[in-house]
Parts: sequence; C-alpha cells; structure tokens
Amino acid sequence: MPAFKELVFSGVQPTGNLHLGNYLGAIKRFVTMQAQYDCLYCVVDLHAITVWQDPAELTRQIREVTAAFLAAGIDPARSVVFNQSQVPQHAELAWIFNCVARLGWLNRMTQFKEKAGKDRENASVGLYDYPVLMAADILAYRATHVPVGEDQKQHLELTRDIAQKFNNDFAGAIAEQGHGEAFFPTTEPLIGGPAARVMSLRDGTKKMSKSDPSDYSRINLTDDADGIAQKVRKAKTDAEPLPSETAGLEKRPEADNLVGIFAALNDVSREDVLRDYGGAQFSAFKGALVDLAVAKLGPIGAEMQRLVADPGHIDAVLANGAARAEAIAAPNIAAVKDIVGFARRR
Ligand code: AMP
Ligand code: TRP
Repeated sequence: MPAFKELVFSGVQPTGNLHLGNYLGAIKRFVTMQAQYDCLYCVVDLHAITVWQDPAELTRQIREVTAAFLAAGIDPARSVVFNQSQVPQHAELAWIFNCVARLGWLNRMTQFKEKAGKDRENASVGLYDYPVLMAADILAYRATHVPVGEDQKQHLELTRDIAQKFNNDFAGAIAEQGHGEAFFPTTEPLIGGPAARVMSLRDGTKKMSKSDPSDYSRINLTDDADGIAQKVRKAKTDAEPLPSETAGLEKRPEADNLVGIFAALNDVSREDVLRDYGGAQFSAFKGALVDLAVAKLGPIGAEMQRLVADPGHIDAVLANGAARAEAIAAPNIAAVKDIVGFARRR
C-alpha cells in the first residue's frame, strides 16, 4: 500500500437538536484528534436535505452546528471547519461514485431502511444515495481516519468498498498517471470509547436521537442546568444498586448507558466509574451525574449561545474553511477526472 498522508474527516448533519450522543460519540472526540492530526470537520447540509428541511431553519441549524463545533473546542485556525454545500467537489465526486457503487451494496444499508420506514416508495432518491455522498465527503480529501459514533459503521464499510472498487476498476490509469497502486486510501473508522452508542434516557435499548419525539429521551447541548437535572433525574433505571464490575451491567441497558455517559464525560472508563459508585443507589449516582453533566455541558451551551448571536462571525469561519477545504479537494478531483478519462478543460 502506498502511504497516504494522515488526515481526519468527519461530518455532522444540521438537522434537529445536537444532543449528548452527538457530543460524546463524535464532537468531543473531534476536539481531541486535533492534537494529533490535521482535521476537517464538515456540517453536512447536502445530507440534511435528503429529508425535507425548512430553508430558514436549515440556515439556522448550519450556524448552530458550527457554533457547537467551536464551543466544544474545535479551533478553526487549526482545523478546517466548513459546510459541505460550499465545496462543489463533494457532489461532483458523489456522482462518479454513484457509477462505482453497486445497487446491491446500497440495498443492504440498514440506516436507509430505518429512515425510509414503511413508506419506502416515497423516500427521496437522495436518502437512498446518502452513503455514497458520505464516501465522497471522506475520499474527496483522501482522508485516512474518520471518528464517528457506532451507527455509522456500515457507511464506513461502504466507503472502503467504493475506494477499493475505484482503485481496482481504474488500476491501469492510476498507475500510468503516477499514483502507484491506489488512488484512494482504506479509511480507518475511529469508533470507540465508553459512549460510541449513547442510548435514550427513556429506553436503554433505543439510540439517543435527534428525531425522538420525546425531548426527555435526550440531553441537548443547548439545555440549561435545570433542564439537564430534570432529564437525568427522570431517566429510566432499574431497581438494583450499581454493580461493582462491568459484567454486572449486562442486561441492564439503562444502568450501562448512564455509567457510559458518566465515564465519557469524565474521560475515564466504565470500570473506573464502578470502582467509585459500585453499590450506590441510582438517586446518589444521578446526583453526581447531574453535577458532572452541568459542569461539562453548561459552558458549551453558553458559548454556543454567544456564538450564534453573531452569525457574521460564523459565516466568516465557514467561508474560510470552505476555501481551505476546496484547496485540498480540487486537485484530488481533478486527478480523479483524469483517471476516469474525462476530457478536462486545461
Ligand atoms: P448525525 O447527527 O446523525 O449527523 O450524527 C453526528 C455524529 O454523532 C455521528 O458521528 C454519529 O455517529 C454520532 N451520533 C449520533 N447519535 C449518537 C448516539 N446516540 N451515540 C453516539 N454517537 C452518536
Ligand atoms: N452520516 C453521518 C451521520 O449522520 C454524517 C456524515 C456525512 C459523515 N458525511 C460524513 C460522518 C463523512 C463522517 C464522515 O452521522
């Protein structure tokens, strides 16, 4: 395998409320990765419109997700922060990948099945094609590492399949044009930590999600201290005290979830949490969790509010990010066009 420059890419959709799952599974980890890698963090507005969005609300949400990135600690001077629709190479590469990906591959995508539900005939073509655009997002930069929550695992496997098929289908041109054995890298998914899959506070078997009708199912990044406290106190639990070992969390999804959230917020492991709280009743543990969540999330929510009050600043960050993103993607897509054999304007 040729060596590819290490590069991190990830995206978050500007749809609905950002919640603790988005923060712990994705955004908090984006912040950490900046110390080690060059990173691109994208507000994926092209993905958002695979389901109808109110235009004014979409604009607001793009700024809000950008504010969340910055408030959480992503440094826009160091990392590239931008929104997808400002960089035309995403859509352009997605088309080429549409002609590489196979129908059979997309037919296996479980997220489409969940999101389309029973009324599949009425889902947008974009919703079906969503994972191909995601592959284009990543590979337009030839990104090597992608931090995401557990729910994106299958999409990242598809990204690898598309990269590999492109590399095989065009192996001759790739070699002739001096790119060696492979034009696209095999992307590493970075899924992990105690909160790769944060569950609903109302039902420990369901993922915490933006689209859950009950606001009590999730903690939003914009919730104030009282809201966080209420939601944690009302969170579903069982009747037993906390176990002292992680094995005791098996078959106790709600307990497992709250312990995982505590661990991730505090940058420790589930084992560490149970060492301190094994044997405790939920009332006591929830009190500690409220304090921790308010201490960690409160400042982020407040900073988000401050940032969204100045949309001009956010838009300037996005414009700067888009220019830097395009400077990386444009030569890659130009090379792809040569590889595929398009006659380019020169
Ligand atoms: P989305 O809001 O669907 O664009 O998701 C943005 C990021 O948050 C992705 O990396 C998801 O995998 C991650 N994510 C969403 N929900 C959860 C959850 N409940 N637990 C952990 N990560 C999540
Ligand atoms: N599909 C991802 C989600 O819903 C968002 C996303 C779009 C993404 N493009 C990406 C994540 C590229 C990582 C890399 O969570």
